[in-house]
Amino acid sequence: MIAREQWGSRLGFVLAAAGSAVGLGNIWKFPYMAGQNGGGAFLILYLVLVFTIGISVMLAEFAIGRAAQRDPVGAFAVLKGKLWPLVGGMGILAGFIILSFYSVVAGWTIAYIIKMATGSLVGDAEALGAAFGGFIADPVQPILYHALFMGLTVAVVLGGVHGGIERACKVLMPMLFVLLLVLIGRAITLPGAEKGLEFFLSPDFSKINGDMLNGALSQAFFSLSIGMGAMITYGSYLNKKENLGKSALWVSSLDSTVAVLAGLLILPAVFAFGFDPAAGPGLTFITLPAVFAQMPAGTFFGILFFVLLTVAALTSAVSLLQPIIAYFSDEWNWNAKATAVIAGLVIFLLGIPSSLSVGIWSDIHFIGEKGFLDSMDYIASNILLPVGGILISIFVGWVVADKMKDEVTNSGEKPFPFMTAWLFICRFVAPVAVAWILVTGL
Ligand code: PFF
Repeated sequence: MIAREQWGSRLGFVLAAAGSAVGLGNIWKFPYMAGQNGGGAFLILYLVLVFTIGISVMLAEFAIGRAAQRDPVGAFAVLKGKLWPLVGGMGILAGFIILSFYSVVAGWTIAYIIKMATGSLVGDAEALGAAFGGFIADPVQPILYHALFMGLTVAVVLGGVHGGIERACKVLMPMLFVLLLVLIGRAITLPGAEKGLEFFLSPDFSKINGDMLNGALSQAFFSLSIGMGAMITYGSYLNKKENLGKSALWVSSLDSTVAVLAGLLILPAVFAFGFDPAAGPGLTFITLPAVFAQMPAGTFFGILFFVLLTVAALTSAVSLLQPIIAYFSDEWNWNAKATAVIAGLVIFLLGIPSSLSVGIWSDIHFIGEKGFLDSMDYIASNILLPVGGILISIFVGWVVADKMKDEVTNSGEKPFPFMTAWLFICRFVAPVAVAWILVTGL
């Protein structure tokens, strides 16, 4: 076997993990989830879950990956064996499922670069909503963009961990951050934006219910890229000097900051333009063009925004594909490049019904009233990731705790002040709370 690649630098690892976390989940999904689930109360629940359970599971994944230096299935096999590798297997499955619909939405983002550039996104709220609905319902175009995005993802992965992913994250992530700040400056000064700020920032706790808790939990897992082994895989390319606890804190903080910024951008604009905050998955795509139309150099900012969002989606997509490739090359000795191409093709095909499900197949329901895309999202985000998170926590808290303590302190060299709290969360809080939220959600 060829030597495993390693991250080029400490910053490289944190940025790559942050690149995995920050993506469509923050900018496309978070605002509409917050919009559908009561705004401020959702935000608070989300942040509490991120900084208790989420960050702990992330650290657990980093530690498992670095200790084992293997793909998610192999990592459990190396550390314990028995049935535990099945947790990794579930993660590989989740990677296929999530990437299949993720790529479809990322395809919409690419299409919006072109639509911004050609000036086809104009008109009032209604016209922008109709333009979005018409585009995603088309049976051909969105699938071509989905193919393009999958092709790009495979190409970046072929560039290797160090060359492709790390370099892209270093420059473009900070750019996205700055651009969000600029756009927020415009959005919150729009007439009527205060109502959106109030909706997002003043929580009404009487609105908390099972659905909201479930939404906040699945959003936290999805956004942090945890529960499926993506962070195990990234941890496996890490050297033994890195401070894992600090890295988990950085990645979780960067990720939730971008989600909050996206909320501060989209929700004030939603209220200012009279859109419906509960409009669902189209929210970002119909609201932002209206913001760009109200800005000097709006077309320029619009193009730049959708380019950067595409890049953010790409760095996340790469982290969804990487565990699959690591699995087939670590465990089955498959050629990594061939695996990337084949997996990319399978995921492309699996994404086609998702794309059609928001158009000509919109009458076909799978889970409850949900179409194919929403059902895929539900199976992955509301079931596979949280169940994966429960099992990862139990594994670290109960099964290999001593080894993990050693890993997190770099064999005693780096003190980790939150050891007791972390193990307590892995042992008790995460399994019980996540299971409870899952059961009340069903
Ligand atoms: N965290 C990514 C986002 O918020 O867009 C999506 C994602 C990537 C989920 C990797 C899961 C994963 F393993």
